[in-house]
Amino acid sequence: MNDDSDPTERGLATEAVHAGGPERAPGSPVVRPVVHSSTYFWSDPGDGAEPIYTRLGNNPNQRSVAAKVAALEGTEDALALASGMAAIAMTILSAASRGDHVVASRSLYGATHLLLKEELPRRGISATLVDPHDADAWAAATTPRTRVVLLELPTNPTLRVFDLGPPRRAARSVGALLAADVTFATPVNLRAAEHGVDAVLHSATKYLGGHSDLIAGVVAGSAELVAGVAAKMKLYGASIDPHAAWLLERGLRTLPTRVERHNVSAMALARWFGTVPTVRRVLHPGLPDHPDHALARALMDGFGGMVSIVLEGGAEAADTFCRSLRLASVAPSLGGVETLVSQPRHTSHADLSSGELEAAGIEPGFVRISVGLEDLRDLKADFAAAAAAAATPPP
Ligand SMILES: Cc1ncc(COP(=O)(O)O)c(C=O)c1O
Repeated sequence: MNDDSDPTERGLATEAVHAGGPERAPGSPVVRPVVHSSTYFWSDPGDGAEPIYTRLGNNPNQRSVAAKVAALEGTEDALALASGMAAIAMTILSAASRGDHVVASRSLYGATHLLLKEELPRRGISATLVDPHDADAWAAATTPRTRVVLLELPTNPTLRVFDLGPPRRAARSVGALLAADVTFATPVNLRAAEHGVDAVLHSATKYLGGHSDLIAGVVAGSAELVAGVAAKMKLYGASIDPHAAWLLERGLRTLPTRVERHNVSAMALARWFGTVPTVRRVLHPGLPDHPDHALARALMDGFGGMVSIVLEGGAEAADTFCRSLRLASVAPSLGGVETLVSQPRHTSHADLSSGELEAAGIEPGFVRISVGLEDLRDLKADFAAAAAAAATPPP
């Protein structure tokens, strides 16, 4: 333990277990039960400036999970919503209206990209997409009408990392919101608010929930920001169901422990894939040959649980590899306790032409792996058998 540490500041693992927890009253449950009630008794006909009503996001489970997220992100407040997309959409809508503008990284989750390029323009909100690695592009795209600067880090599926300075300075220059979707990093590996991010966004469906059994999103930031997002959430009905909030809170208790293991296993598998003859390329920010390794070291506390590989033999080999897996599952999500494998050309990037795939760094044979918590020995055996199958040309 660092002797200079503030004794009033608790560690991340402690916050994950205890923040937002129920009051320690004798005889009361250690774990807050799911409160399935949509509405709550009033004490008087004129009771309550803000009634408790689950669409408003103030049910006990919604409140306690939000408190835990705020503690983990180190922000004043947080809010859990019905999905990652709800968190992203409500955050943008809270800051931008007709005539306003968004500057965003070109490397975004597919639905976020569609939201910016097709849905928001119908509401009079335009977006300019920039190459996130081009330090000058952020400021160049920013106008006095820019209300949100949005990025995703690390990027999917090439796991690239970039300097947060240029988007932060661009946002500050016009008083816009800097919003970052850090689903792939988690607060264990990147505490985005410490780097000047105003709206920290997650698809909590992934690592925060961690068990592939819920859909949820979160936004963390100042109380003012969260109040603005909550106002949109109430109108659009994008609040989280209490049961999903309870599951998310349960998942969050083990987040630091899970992510530490994801980090270790992904690093070990990335190194090992480098020795597999049929694997032409391995992408993981922890590898010294990753283009952003130095930046990832400086920015992040861990390199994350995602590894991407490129197989010799292209698309056909990647299909055979996926079909041959017996332990890892082929499924399009990530961040669960189980290892999940997908090919971006069949999932997140299915609409892209082969030229666009190349431009996005998704070569033929590209496979994305969300490394789970299984024994490494068993994962290696599964991947070794699949890689061997993929090396055999079909008869
Ligand atoms: C980086 C990222 N952001 C946002 C989303 C959307 O999250 P949800 O499916 O919870 O709405 C996803 C989903 O895969 C994602 O990977």
